[in-house]
Amino acid sequence: MRVTVLTLFPDAFPGPLGVSLLGRALENDVFTLRIIDLKQFSQEGERVDGSPCGGGCGMLLSARTLEAAIASLPPPDPSFARQCIYFSPRGALFSQKTAHFFSQQHDIVILCGRYEGIDTRILEEYAFTEISIGDYVLMGGEIAAMAFIEASVRLIPGVVSTHDSLIEDSFVASSASLLEYPQYTHPVRWRKRSVPPVLLSGDHEAVRQWRLAQARMITRTRRPDLWSKYVASKLNAT
Ligand code: ADE
Repeated sequence: MRVTVLTLFPDAFPGPLGVSLLGRALENDVFTLRIIDLKQFSQEGERVDGSPCGGGCGMLLSARTLEAAIASLPPPDPSFARQCIYFSPRGALFSQKTAHFFSQQHDIVILCGRYEGIDTRILEEYAFTEISIGDYVLMGGEIAAMAFIEASVRLIPGVVSTHDSLIEDSFVASSASLLEYPQYTHPVRWRKRSVPPVLLSGDHEAVRQWRLAQARMITRTRRPDLWSKYVASKLNAT
């Protein structure tokens, strides 16, 4: 997977993408990160940003700057579709399903907005897909880009252990999963809090049932939306 990031803040990368399993995947070229500094593309005597036509606060990244940055990219390999992504709260909500789709892509170009955003004509001209990572407002696209890259790259086979991937797969296949059950490690007693005895019983079936019951209870109380999907998927399966 080749990921190109267009940003006003190139120093923000690779950041957390350069450590642990993702850092290793980066070293081993499982994915590549090319970071392009948008400041290099301001036109002579012009700024990278401009005020919004029609008035309003803040500044927008200008179409001319962005056009020059996009034009500097090598042409896409004809055998792979280039996916152009722009992060904004207006986009479709990012999900595990979306991460699976992008984990199978080979050429991803990410444009990180800043200030109040960018000139909309860029999104239209280059057919950017707009993605939001949640219903809240960030200062720019960099953090969203990192969340997107991490969630997608960890699904590339071999990046994390097969065990984790398999759990993931069941999550996506049903698109109606439960939230995770609570986990404990040693010591068995800590600050008057004990590990639930069933987890120490050695009875694998009892452990499986306890975890399922916990996952169901947590999902039902914390995420009624996921719980409804889960119940519907169980009903459909019978
Ligand atoms: N940029 C600003 N807020 C954002 C969000 N919630 N998701 C993606 N990109 C953003």
